[in-house]
Amino acid sequence: MPAVVVLGAQWGDEGKGKATDQLASRTDFVVKFNGGNNAGHTVVIDGEKYALHLLPSGILSPGVVPVIGNGVVIDLEVLFVEIDALIARGVDPSRLLVSSAAHVIAPYNRTIDKVTERFLGKRKIGTTGRGIGPTYADKINRIGIRIQDLFDEKILRQKIEGALEQKNHLLVKVYNRRAITVDETIDELLTNAERLKPMVADTPLVLNRGLDEGKTVVFEAGQATMLDVDHGTYPFVTSSSATAGGACTGSGVGPTRIDRVVGVAKAYTTRVGEGPFPTELLDATGEWLRKTGGEYGTTTGRPRRTGWFDAVVTRYAGRVNGLTDLVVTKLDTLTGLEKIPVAVAYDVNGVRHDEMPLDQSDFHHAKPIYEEFDGWTEDISLCRSFDDLPVNAQRYVLALEDISGTRVSSIGVGPGREATIIRHDLLA
Ligand code: GDP
Ligand code: IMO
Ligand code: MG
Repeated sequence: MPAVVVLGAQWGDEGKGKATDQLASRTDFVVKFNGGNNAGHTVVIDGEKYALHLLPSGILSPGVVPVIGNGVVIDLEVLFVEIDALIARGVDPSRLLVSSAAHVIAPYNRTIDKVTERFLGKRKIGTTGRGIGPTYADKINRIGIRIQDLFDEKILRQKIEGALEQKNHLLVKVYNRRAITVDETIDELLTNAERLKPMVADTPLVLNRGLDEGKTVVFEAGQATMLDVDHGTYPFVTSSSATAGGACTGSGVGPTRIDRVVGVAKAYTTRVGEGPFPTELLDATGEWLRKTGGEYGTTTGRPRRTGWFDAVVTRYAGRVNGLTDLVVTKLDTLTGLEKIPVAVAYDVNGVRHDEMPLDQSDFHHAKPIYEEFDGWTEDISLCRSFDDLPVNAQRYVLALEDISGTRVSSIGVGPGREATIIRHDLLA
């Protein structure tokens, strides 16, 4: 199975970093294809915790070539802070490749992200404030700055002048901020340009040649299906394509080459930022899930909103991504609950919806219809095979598989690399 997409089946933070890391020892390339440093992917190896934002998780595995694809937006300062922090911990990032067509997060876009959110007030998205949305907006608006522009100062200056002409009107006249100069922007963007140069590559060519040679490529998504700009809970989404199609456009590898699409889902649900979340628990149980699951953002430290597993969402994720497998994570967090509800459908103003409502207002008003499963009290963190799990935990996983309509191939029982039950090999 040479080409496997690993993506979020909920609202992010499902454990994509760990799932990717799990495959990395048998993988040649790990490509990040969307998003930027809004992501926070945690990998725990021998008790050592790594939080990756911009770098693909494959950077932690010595045999892997980590690739930042063309679909990513790059904050260059963050990139090198992250690289240096890994070097300080003994990780060798020298194999990293960066697409020449990836877009750069210019400093004005960080500012615009923050002031726009403030301006929106009650209608804010709850973004990570990293400049992600404005940078993708510039890309679509055809005024973005790309990695290759950094190596031609004349073109870079022209492009920044053009962009700032618009941005400064907005910053000064609408948001009452100071104007940003072309020179300060160029200075920031060029600070690390020489260091970046040897990493820049024609990454679609490299990846397709690798596949021609029978190499294995894992596509590691940032964010998740429900945060996808097309398929998520718009406008409470990120600004990139976090679904399976994004793996193709964001890397330059065609859909005919993808063998498997793996959705990662927590055994319950979390969400950071604003927007609808039908199974959200605003009570003591929600707080218990947050505490027990350590549900605080990897990137912003914000408390994550928590709720029960939503099978309507995972069925939807199965459909829009063409999922072949589910990885269910954090089953261990549910240990100790007497009953575990799972949303199997929604009630919208008295009408049952088995699938995602067509309309955003209906989704806002969706009340989960729950089916309850018996819990377990045994510590499952040392279980390494499905049969090791208590019968009720097995039944719970089988129920998720059945209601979601996608086979559960791997189950997480702890944050560590080893704390995993494998039912089907994702690379076989
Ligand atoms: P990502 O953004 O999808 O990579 O997920 P995050 O790293 O933001 O959040 C997932 C959190 O859950 C991290 O702290 C992981 O270390 C942790 N984690 C992943 N899988 C498991 C699991 O099976 N059990 C437990 N207890 N923690 C897990
Ligand atoms: P990983 O890859 C969870 C959320 C933000 C906000 C919305 C838009 O770790 O799963 P943005 O800054 O992207 O414009 O914010 O998307 N968000 C995430 N939530 N996990 C993430 O990444 C996220 N990346 C963005 O909280 O609601
Ligand atoms: Mg995360």
